Amino acid sequence: MHTKVWRMDAENIMDKDLKEAAAILKAGEVVAFPTETVYGLGADATEEAAVRKIFEAKGRPQDNPLIAHVASIDQLKELVTCIPDYVYTLIQAFSPGPLTYILPASDDCADNVKAGLSTIGVRIPSHPIALAFIQAAGKPVAAPSANVSGKPSPTAAEHVYEDLNGRISGLIDGGQTGVGLESTVIDCTGEIPVILRPGGVTKEQLERVTGTVMMDPGLVKSSEDRPKAPGMKYKHYAPEVPLYLFAGTSQAFRQYVDKEMQAGNRVGVLMSDQTAAMFTEEVYIHKLGRTIEEIASSLYDGLRFFKQANVDKIICETFSENGIGQAVMNRLRKAADRVIEE
Ligand code: TXA
Ligand code: MG
Repeated sequence: MHTKVWRMDAENIMDKDLKEAAAILKAGEVVAFPTETVYGLGADATEEAAVRKIFEAKGRPQDNPLIAHVASIDQLKELVTCIPDYVYTLIQAFSPGPLTYILPASDDCADNVKAGLSTIGVRIPSHPIALAFIQAAGKPVAAPSANVSGKPSPTAAEHVYEDLNGRISGLIDGGQTGVGLESTVIDCTGEIPVILRPGGVTKEQLERVTGTVMMDPGLVKSSEDRPKAPGMKYKHYAPEVPLYLFAGTSQAFRQYVDKEMQAGNRVGVLMSDQTAAMFTEEVYIHKLGRTIEEIASSLYDGLRFFKQANVDKIICETFSENGIGQAVMNRLRKAADRVIEE
């Protein structure tokens, strides 16, 4: 299959290219597109056969439901049967944006979008290209992250191309995404919203708007509960070499890396700019940025970075779980083969 690529500028979207991409989607094919979080792999959410192609291209387990992307509140309303008041409040504050609402589903989407559940995840992305693409399609667009299942999500068109070239019909290249981690998924079927996947909108931000927000017990580290978002139980976001997470002081981290190198291991090290300043030049470093927002934004690129390099393992430091740090650590734990605690 030939993968057609359209280079698109968010500030100056070419109508002709957008229409061509939307026409391919409406014809039942799969097209990847940028959102403010990560690239999505889109298909017409109302067509079972089109949605099936997403699962095939990604190698995604059939029991993992997809998010339906819409361009307006009216379009969102069609996909669900009931919207609690607090959801309207959240929509006002955070949509369009990186927040996905799980609500009781209407019959408008194909069954395989929901993977057999009675609920559906809906989100209004804020990326201008994503919004324009959904509008041009005139349909809800089912879209998981546009990576091969298990790999880090794509934050640049190059990542999508690397994973899916020849397996999808089109790719809208809108440059780098912004947030860099996926949307926050919240279950809105109960009295109080429950976070099923931490993401672009933080728990603190949600609570400022609606009061108490719960965390799915299945997300807690030592819990025996199963995560309620089917996707959260799989190993995810993993680079192609083993990833070790190091929890400890920067000093202990440096000593650990030195020890690994003395033992003859070729290691690649992922860390913040501040921690990197403590390392000598012989260490193979990839810096993720200074603030936790910068680290979130460059994390997946960092996990892909050492792919071509000749390293035996990647060692990454841990970050404090405030704000988007909660999502950063959630993804790192899922990606890691081992956590070293000193
Ligand atoms: O930022 C994002 O959300 C990106 C962009 C493309 O929008 N999309 C994304 O989709 O991350 P995906 O498929 O990689 O992750 C969707 C997550 C999965 O963990 C899935 O299990 C969960 O949302 N999910 C979807 N529908 C659900 C439902 N009805 N009930 C519970 N969890 C659901
Ligand atoms: Mg994903």
